Amino acid sequence: MFSYYGSKSKVVNYYPPPKFNKIIEPFAGSARYSLKYWQNDVLLVDKYKVIIDVWKYLKSASKNDILKLPRLKSGENLNDFCLSEIEKQFLGFIIVGGLESPRQKAGSFRDTQKQNQILKNIANQLFKIKHWEIKLGSYNELENEEATWFIDPPYQFGGHEYKCSNKQIDFNNLAEWCKSRNGQIIVCENTKATWMDFKPMIKMQGCIHKTTEAIWSNYRTNYDNVQIKIEL
Ligand SMILES: C[S@@+](CC[C@H](N)C(=O)[O-])C[C@H]1O[C@@H](n2cnc3c(N)ncnc32)[C@H](O)[C@@H]1O
Repeated sequence: MFSYYGSKSKVVNYYPPPKFNKIIEPFAGSARYSLKYWQNDVLLVDKYKVIIDVWKYLKSASKNDILKLPRLKSGENLNDFCLSEIEKQFLGFIIVGGLESPRQKAGSFRDTQKQNQILKNIANQLFKIKHWEIKLGSYNELENEEATWFIDPPYQFGGHEYKCSNKQIDFNNLAEWCKSRNGQIIVCENTKATWMDFKPMIKMQGCIHKTTEAIWSNYRTNYDNVQIKIEL
């Protein structure tokens, strides 16, 4: 729906599809997995209030609410437009893409045409999220329902950019919490992580570094068959 730092947009097709009708994303961000399977029952949770406020705004917005928003030229500032706080926060993600928090000043990378295309695309997808449940909170406050749990926390190594970052996460506790979920569990990380036995999934070229996305699941996945070297 909107671009966000660390979103799973490029790799979402590599994860196993949900086995349960309800999908829970306890580290929602821009919720790419739920958007792919939007027809399911979806519960989004995130500790970062801005993200949850933006999701709630989109859930209640009409097509016209989105289409009537201004497209900003490079250098223009959202504070110079007559907009509500939540409209500014939402547009703050649109005028500069791929960031961990909204910005106020438009850059040159996303010109008005590009913003127009993004807003039209969002307006046309609003119907997908009308039945979703969206909650502000921490992952560990959730009831242990039977569901497909798509768990994508900030990376253990490299997730410090978020407003609610890896510094506040006890990864040993998180590992126990993940394993104790009812239903299908899909945990996302990169191969540098040590807090669960992650399997390599796919190489990614980030802005600066190459990383390998990794997965842990309580069900078999295509990534379980790692080659074992036999010494003769
Ligand atoms: C890697 S991002 C999720 C990206 C998401 N899968 C997507 O496709 O956009 C991690 C998210 O976890 C949130 N977060 C960090 N600590 C949290 C906590 N204790 N409980 C819930 N969410 C948390 C951050 O605010 C951030 O939005």
